Amino acid sequence: MSGQGTEPEAMKIVLVGHMGAGKTTAVKALGGVDVDELIESREQRTVAEIFAADGEGAFRDLEERVTLELLADPSVQAVALGGGALASRRTRAALTAARVVWLDVDADEAWRRVARSPTRPLARDERRFRALHAERQEQYAQAADAIVPASHVRRLAAPIAALEGMPAGAKLIWAVTASADYPAYIGAGLITDRRFWPATIAGRRVLVSDRNAASHYGALFEPVLTAVRIAPGEQSKTLTQAEVIWREMARTGVTRTDVTVALGGGVVGDLAGFCAATYQRGMPVVQVPTTLVAQVDSAYGGKTGVDIPEGKNYVGSFHQPAAVIADTTTLGTLPPAELAAGYAEVVKTGLIAGGWLWRRIAAGAAPDDPDVIAGCALTKLRIVAQDELDTGVRQLLNVGHTVAHAVETVTGYARYRHGEAVALGLLAELRLAGADALRQQVLELLEQAGLPVTLAADVDVEQVLLATTRDKKRVGEGPVPFALCIEPGRALTGQPVAPAELRAAIMELVG
Ligand SMILES: NC(=O)c1ccc[n+]([C@@H]2O[C@H](COP(=O)([O-])OP(=O)(O)OC[C@H]3O[C@@H](n4cnc5c(N)ncnc54)[C@H](O)[C@@H]3O)[C@@H](O)[C@H]2O)c1
Repeated sequence: MSGQGTEPEAMKIVLVGHMGAGKTTAVKALGGVDVDELIESREQRTVAEIFAADGEGAFRDLEERVTLELLADPSVQAVALGGGALASRRTRAALTAARVVWLDVDADEAWRRVARSPTRPLARDERRFRALHAERQEQYAQAADAIVPASHVRRLAAPIAALEGMPAGAKLIWAVTASADYPAYIGAGLITDRRFWPATIAGRRVLVSDRNAASHYGALFEPVLTAVRIAPGEQSKTLTQAEVIWREMARTGVTRTDVTVALGGGVVGDLAGFCAATYQRGMPVVQVPTTLVAQVDSAYGGKTGVDIPEGKNYVGSFHQPAAVIADTTTLGTLPPAELAAGYAEVVKTGLIAGGWLWRRIAAGAAPDDPDVIAGCALTKLRIVAQDELDTGVRQLLNVGHTVAHAVETVTGYARYRHGEAVALGLLAELRLAGADALRQQVLELLEQAGLPVTLAADVDVEQVLLATTRDKKRVGEGPVPFALCIEPGRALTGQPVAPAELRAAIMELVG
C-alpha cells in the first residue's frame, strides 16, 4: 500500500494474509519479525491464552500497539501481521510507507494447515474460520501491493525483486504455473504516465501491435529493435500474419534473448504470443493488454494461437508471458462497444469468483475500475495455477462460453463481438444452472452496459443448438460438458444438459 511519492526500494516488507498462509515461515526467511510471536514472547502467554483471559478486544488493542511499533521501527526490514490486523484503521493507515505482500491461501488449504490448532483461537470452528477467510479477502486485496500464492512462502525473493520500481498505487500479482512464474502488474498510468518496465526483464524489444493500439501507445516502448503493426481485428489472427512477424524478426536479427512486446487487445496478445512461443523455438513475451477483454482475461494464462478457416484458436501453444503490464488508463481510448464487450468477461469472472469481487460488480463498479480488473486477473490466475493446460478446473473459465461460441460460429464471427456473445451465453447458461434470480440480476447489469440480452431474430436457433452440441470441449460421443454457475462463487465443470432444456434456454434469448 505504498503511498504517492515515496521511494519504493528501501521500503519495509509487510506480510498479510489469513491464518495458515505461512506468514511466520516467510517473515523468518526474510529476517523479519512476526507480530504474534513478539506478543507471545513479551506477554509470556500464547495468543489463545490472551484471548481466553482478556478477550479478543484486549488482544486487538495489544496487536495494534505492537504492529504500529514495528511498522515505525526502521531497523525492522519485514513484519508479518496477524490475520485480522487489517481490521484496524490505524494499522491500515501506517502501511502507506511499506510494500504489502498478501500471501494468498485458499480456505481449504488454510483450514487443512491450522484446523483446531490449540494456539489459534479463531481456528477451532470451521464455519467461523471459513467465514472469516471470505470476509477478509477484500481487505487483503485492497491493502496489497503484491499478491503471492502461499505455495511460495519460501520463494519470495523473485516477487519482491519484481516490485522494484513499480509505481505507487499499482498491484503486482505473482502468477504461478507448472511451467513458469511471472509478474502481472495492474494499475492506472503504468505505461501512460510512468513508462514502467519491469526491472527483471532484459533484452531488446520487438514491438507487435495493431494500428489502433500502436497509434496511441506504441511510442512509449521506444527504443525497439523493430515494430510490426497489424491491421486491427480478428482477421489478423492468422498463420499468414504470424509468418510476416517471424520473418520480420529474422530479417532484423532478433534472437531468443530478445523480448516480444504484445501491445493491444486479445488479437495481438494471442498472435504475438504465438510468434514468441515458436520463433527460434521460444522467446519471452511481455503482454501489454490495452482492451478490457485482454486486461481481465486473455493476457494471463499463456494461451496463444491463431485461427484457421476451419476453426477459431485451432492452432496454438501454451506460452506463459514473462510479464503482463495492464495499464487501466489505456482503456480511456477504447471505443465504448469494446469496453462493453470486455464487461461481459468482467461479469463472468465475478460470477466465478463470488465474494467481494461479485459484490463490487453487482453494485455497479465502473468497467475500468482497477481493483475490479485486478480482482478478475487474480481469479483467473488462481484457476490457471491449478490447471495450466486446461484439463480440469480451468474449464470453470468457460462459464457462459459454450453457448457464446455457438452463437459466434453460427453468425460467422462477424455479427457479435466475443464479449457480446458471452453476454448472451451467460443468460442462457444461468437459466440452465437454475439460477433464475441471478440471471435477472446479470441481465440488468449487461443491459446497463449496453450489451445485447436478446438474440437477433434472424439468427437460426436450430443452428445455434447444433453448434453447441459440436463444441470442442466435447470428448468422443459424450454430451457437451457445460461449466455452470449455480450462485456467485460456485461454478461446476462437466455438467451435462438435457437437450430440451438447452433448446428452451436458447429460445428464451429470442424473446
Ligand atoms: N488467450 C486467451 O486466453 C484469450 C481469452 C479471451 C479472448 N482471447 C482472444 O482475444 C481476442 C479478442 O480480444 P479483444 O476483445 O481485446 O479484441 P481486439 O484485440 O480485436 O481489440 C478490439 C479493438 O480495440 C482496438 N484497441 C485495442 N486497444 C485499444 C485502445 N486502448 N484504444 C483504442 N482502441 C484499442 C483494437 O485495435 C481492435 O480494433 C479474440 O481473438 C479471442 O479469441 C484470448
